[in-house]
Amino acid sequence: MKYNELCKLVSKKEISTGIFDFVIESENIAKDTQCGQFLHINCGDGTFLRRPISICDAYDGKVRFIFEVKGQGTKDLAKKETGDMIDVIGPLGHGFEVSDGVKHPVVIGGGIGVFPLYKLTKELGGRADVFLGFRSADRVVMEKEFEQISNMTIVGTDDGSYGYDGYIAAAMEQYLNFHDCDMIYSCGPMPMLKAVKKIAEEKGIKCQISLEQRMGCGIGACLVCSCETVNSGADKYAKVCTNGPVFYSEEVTLND
Ligand code: FES
Repeated sequence: MKYNELCKLVSKKEISTGIFDFVIESENIAKDTQCGQFLHINCGDGTFLRRPISICDAYDGKVRFIFEVKGQGTKDLAKKETGDMIDVIGPLGHGFEVSDGVKHPVVIGGGIGVFPLYKLTKELGGRADVFLGFRSADRVVMEKEFEQISNMTIVGTDDGSYGYDGYIAAAMEQYLNFHDCDMIYSCGPMPMLKAVKKIAEEKGIKCQISLEQRMGCGIGACLVCSCETVNSGADKYAKVCTNGPVFYSEEVTLND
């Protein structure tokens, strides 16, 4: 079930330069959200199109989302203050599939891709081993929060300024050489997703990935968000907004 509501902004924090952590009130969206789904947000009067922003958490009538200021839409959104009303459609899309049958899940996120993995990791009930990659020490966010809800959290930076020195997919690969894993969950930049998909395939591990894609309507009508699948004919393309954003890695071909 999806809703279009005016939701009150009840908490706003800038957790790193240009990265804003918002909590809005919505009983309906909070109760129906599955991890990995997103909101389609009208960012302000000056922006015509809505922006898709992934849901970080949903609980007790509240929905949390974190976004980076990248263009005019998110710049306008970042100007909202607590008490302001925000026009939100959600929850949208097909999220992560979580099953009790998965005993050794690994969660891997990069950059702003770590945010939709938070609710997922909570739902995995403390059994996830989590890998979080960032460009540099000053971009590291949510480390403590993930530590509290996971079995183990490893943080790395591309430039080696904090934690594991190098790409986080390489840290995960080394870990997988010595540990069991029966599902990988991933969200982040395309080079990381490609590396994760390759590692999962080489090791024969099922893998769910959340794709970031430019979106228009958010509800399956405009085709702006198409991604290529491994199928042919009518099923050659899927819509990230409705078929995804989460896919099994074997379903999609990852193009830049
Ligand atoms: Fe319009 Fe997906 S955003 S079809």
